[in-house]
Formats: sequence, structure tokens, C-alpha cells
Amino acid sequence: MNDSQQIRAKVSHAYAHAVTTGTDCCGSAPKGTLARRAGYDDAELAALPAEAVVNSFGCGNPLAFGEVRPGDAVLDLGCGAGIDVALAARKVGPTGRVIGVDMTDEMTGRARAVLAEAGLTNAEIRKGLIEDLPVDSACVDWVISNCVINLSPEKARVFAEIARVLKPGGRMIVSDIIADGLPEAARHSLSLYSCCVAGAVSEREYREGLERAGLTDVVIRQRFELSLSQLEALVESDQRAFRVACDRLEALSKGELAVACAGRVFSAEISARKPE
Ligand SMILES: C[S@@+](CC[C@H](N)C(=O)[O-])C[C@H]1O[C@@H](n2cnc3c(N)ncnc32)[C@H](O)[C@@H]1O
Repeated sequence: MNDSQQIRAKVSHAYAHAVTTGTDCCGSAPKGTLARRAGYDDAELAALPAEAVVNSFGCGNPLAFGEVRPGDAVLDLGCGAGIDVALAARKVGPTGRVIGVDMTDEMTGRARAVLAEAGLTNAEIRKGLIEDLPVDSACVDWVISNCVINLSPEKARVFAEIARVLKPGGRMIVSDIIADGLPEAARHSLSLYSCCVAGAVSEREYREGLERAGLTDVVIRQRFELSLSQLEALVESDQRAFRVACDRLEALSKGELAVACAGRVFSAEISARKPE
């Protein structure tokens, strides 16, 4: 296994475990509470199958800052248990369509069950990698994603895939984690990777990556900073990998690592466009 495959295997295991055992992915919040923190409103959540809400692991509400319309085609990268696929399917209506892609059988299975329970026949779930999307070129109006791209060890491939599948003039709207100046000990932690911290890149790297793939009109707006107590919970869940990382460097206590990450990790809304 190369490094990227190793990271994807670890991330895959973490989310399959979270969704099948009823635990949070990284101990940062009680399971089932993430959807409210992510910014969905209560009425929106009440209209969804409970499984979609309980198994929501997003860091934002990407559809809230786009203008997805009836008849549009939408693709959700790393759809998890299907919360945004279901919301998008309602927005695009019977003349539109939605595709959700995820790499784990556990998530794709939950997402299909959510769509069936909600009676949504204009949406489908495909198993695959966001670095190599099982989707035709130039076939969607919108690419959405919620707290997933930070998890990819090959972001240039993801950005190139977004540019490939969008129709000319199509838009990308994603919620994701960005991080600037993380300490090396955090960057080396596989567990902090699954928690959406270690793989997060800076605003500048995100923007340059999208532009290099040919996307334009990149806008990045920060939503909220991960607090010290949230970072402490993530570091706490990372004990074993943390020790390995710190053995390679000068010893940093868990508390010191959380403090070193504080003020550097944000949830953000990112949009971009494929030129006509
Ligand atoms: C933080 S969860 C977010 C799930 C969903 N977007 C939500 O808001 O609940 C990350 C999801 O992305 C999937 N994922 C991570 N890396 C992926 C990759 N390289 N290709 C496909 N899916 C991936 C995981 O299996 C997991 O379901």
C-alpha cells in the first residue's frame, strides 16, 4: 500500500466504524448532534429520515449557500449516509437528479436506505472514490460536498475530477475544514486525519488547487473556528497515533498539541465555477 492508499484505508475504516457502531467519528461531539452544529435548520432535519440526521458527519450545510433549482443535476462527493443527497433531491424535484458517491459499503448502504425511506427516486448512490469519480464528464450543474475533500490525500486529483464532471458554467459549493500552520505532530497523526484536521489545507492552497484545475470565481468564507475544547477532544481521541507522532519529534503533551492547533482550524464555505 502506498501512503495515499494507507490514508484512505484508515479513513474508510473510521467512517464505516462510526456508522455501524453508533459512535462519533472522532469523539468531538455526541453522535447525532453534528447536524445541528453544521447549520441545518430544525424544520429541514425534521423532514428527513432519522438515519440521515443521526449519521450526519458534515461541518456545514452546502446547499444553504447555493441556488440549486428544480431540474438541476447535482453530485455529492463523499455523501456519507445521504443527508445532502436527500435535501438536494427535494430541491431539484422530479425533473432533476442527484448522484451521491462514497467509498464505503457501510455509508452507501445507509444512504440508499435513506433515499428509499424518503421515497426519493430521482437520486442514486454510487460506490467510488472522489479522486476517480464513477460519473461521466460534463454532466452535472452542481458539485456539492460536506467535510470530505480535507480527507483526500490526493486533492489535486479531486479538484481535477470536479472540473471534469461539471458542465461548462457549472458550480461547486462545498463545506470543508481548512487549517493554516498546523504543527508537524498534528500533520503526522492518522487519527487526526480521519477527524478532518490533519489533512486540511490552508485557504491559499485550496484556492490555488481549484484554480490549477481550471475553476474560477473561487470564494472562501470562514464559518467558525474549532474551539480549544473541540480540539482537545479530537487530540484525546488520538492517543495512540499521537504518541507515535510525538516520538518522532520533541515530546509535546496532548494539551500542548491542542493549544498548538488552536486558532488554526476552521469550517469554511467554498464555491467555484467552471468557465463557460
Ligand atoms: C466526514 S464524513 C461526511 C459525510 C457526509 N458528507 C455528511 O455530511 O454526513 C466523510 C465521508 O467521506 C467519505 N470519503 C472520505 N474520503 C473519500 C474518498 N477519497 N472517496 C470517497 N469517499 C470518501 C467517507 O467514507 C465518509 O462517508
